[in-house]
Amino acid sequence: MSDENTKSLIFSVKNLRKSFGPVEVLHGIDLTLRGGEVHAILGENGAGKSTLVKILSGFEALTQGELHISDGSGSSQRLTLWNNAIAEQAGVVLIHQEFNLAEQLTVAENIFLGNEINGRFFLDKKTMRIKAQEYLDVLRSDIDPDAAVDQLPVSAKQMVEIAKAQAKNARVLVLDEPTAVLTQQESQVLFELIDRFRQDGVAIVFISHKLDEIKQIADVITVLRDGELVGSYSAADLSKDDMARLMVGRELSSLFPEIPKVPDASKVVLRVSDLLLQGSSEPSSFELRKGEVLGFSGLVGSGRTALIETVLGLRNSAKGNTGRVELRGERVNFKQLSVARSKGVAYLTKDRKGSGLLLEKGLVFNFSLFSLHKISRLLIDTKQEDVAFKKAVETFDIRMKDKSIVAGNLSGGNQQKLLLAKILEAEPSVIIIDEPTRGIDIGTKSQIYHFIAELVASGHSLILISSDITEVIGLSHRVAVMYHSQISGVLEGDGIEEHEIMRYATGLKNKPSHHDQLGSGTSNA
Ligand SMILES: Nc1ncnc2c1ncn2[C@@H]1O[C@H](COP(=O)(O)OP(=O)(O)OP(=O)(O)O)[C@@H](O)[C@H]1O
Ligand SMILES: [Mg+2]
Repeated sequence: MSDENTKSLIFSVKNLRKSFGPVEVLHGIDLTLRGGEVHAILGENGAGKSTLVKILSGFEALTQGELHISDGSGSSQRLTLWNNAIAEQAGVVLIHQEFNLAEQLTVAENIFLGNEINGRFFLDKKTMRIKAQEYLDVLRSDIDPDAAVDQLPVSAKQMVEIAKAQAKNARVLVLDEPTAVLTQQESQVLFELIDRFRQDGVAIVFISHKLDEIKQIADVITVLRDGELVGSYSAADLSKDDMARLMVGRELSSLFPEIPKVPDASKVVLRVSDLLLQGSSEPSSFELRKGEVLGFSGLVGSGRTALIETVLGLRNSAKGNTGRVELRGERVNFKQLSVARSKGVAYLTKDRKGSGLLLEKGLVFNFSLFSLHKISRLLIDTKQEDVAFKKAVETFDIRMKDKSIVAGNLSGGNQQKLLLAKILEAEPSVIIIDEPTRGIDIGTKSQIYHFIAELVASGHSLILISSDITEVIGLSHRVAVMYHSQISGVLEGDGIEEHEIMRYATGLKNKPSHHDQLGSGTSNA
């Protein structure tokens, strides 16, 4: 197809409806995608974005409505038969919100899965490996094409998905929250790639809850609210405030609540001393007081998750230096999450799919998994359980049309809310959360922030690991910054400031020695 023709590619849906069983979740959507345009889809968690793009790419069948495709030659073709195989053949490629990788295969094998290059008699593994390397190079990624996918961290898995899309000859490329698990830098590389696709006349659909990103790359914005089409707009006409208002349907209150001060005499709840992480030369120490939010900032890979998981006994510390962990003045060795939980320490991992919810199980089952001791010793008191669940649904604004679905059928953001609810239902006193608002819409984010403020006001202590620097700044009393698997500085009060955090995070600034930040003071280089 000539360049001119591809650029006038039009893929449209008319009056699209989708029901799961008796429940309708999309109510008559019209959407027109054009070659050479980045079309963003915005909406709250559960609004129907993923369902819509799964239909576009043939992963879900539509219940009612029409799909049309036109290659620019003037005639438009109604697509009556549509499934994933046909969609891929027509060049419609979806990168799923929850990845769709074969975990046991290598990176290169995944990139060409279902799209293998054949040699004369056998698969041409060598060419596929070289090509895979090329795709990864475009992404400036150092992932090894021979690595097993199940060994990769989530951001790398996302990069593999994106590399995989390059191997297919996409005319319509749909990205469902690709940046939720990427660093800012990785996201920028992705945007460069999207720009190249755009110039080649590919129609791009982009879903994200990060309004800055939408502002940066979208040409057209379609807003969904609760399965209804609010409208399609030229991106240049909408400010971020407009976007938020259209999504939520009302004015939003301030994103960050007032966080109550930590009383001066507040007790240290958790003290970690001289813990040497693998791959680091300097041990780290920190303390968490009652009623405090201690933020952890740092670049991805700086060791924030590793530090917390070493404290919790989920990973080994460097040989010969196990450090010391004290909970309420008593030396502890957690070893396992269940031990930590029994002592009132809750941990919300950032890997929702890997270690969070049981996706095949019901919502109430997932919700009360950690708090059964509260409900009844032997028999599960379902009435009490239901009441608690109902309350949690209100507190966290968990949205589903049908309460009998399994957790895996909740929208991505609502899965994250259910995880939070589940962890907190066990009434922990120390809460450690890693990327708590990933994939969560702006209205709900604000709700979660207010909820965190209430938690610390009532004497809970919180460790917040987040790559969202505004979130760390907006919520934390103190911020520990990590660089190269050690704490490079601890900021407090007015010292908590983006540039200062970045200086410690990039190694431009470093504490003189780890002993100086044992206390709660700001340390300067
Ligand atoms: N297989 C399914 N069975 C039943 N209900 C489903 C199924 N898949 C999605 N839903 C429901 O459809 C609605 C829309 O979900 P969808 O995943 O499309 O939302 P979303 O806009 O992508 O949200 P998020 O921002 O949280 O990812 C939700 O109420 C969800 O629970
Ligand atoms: Mg979604």
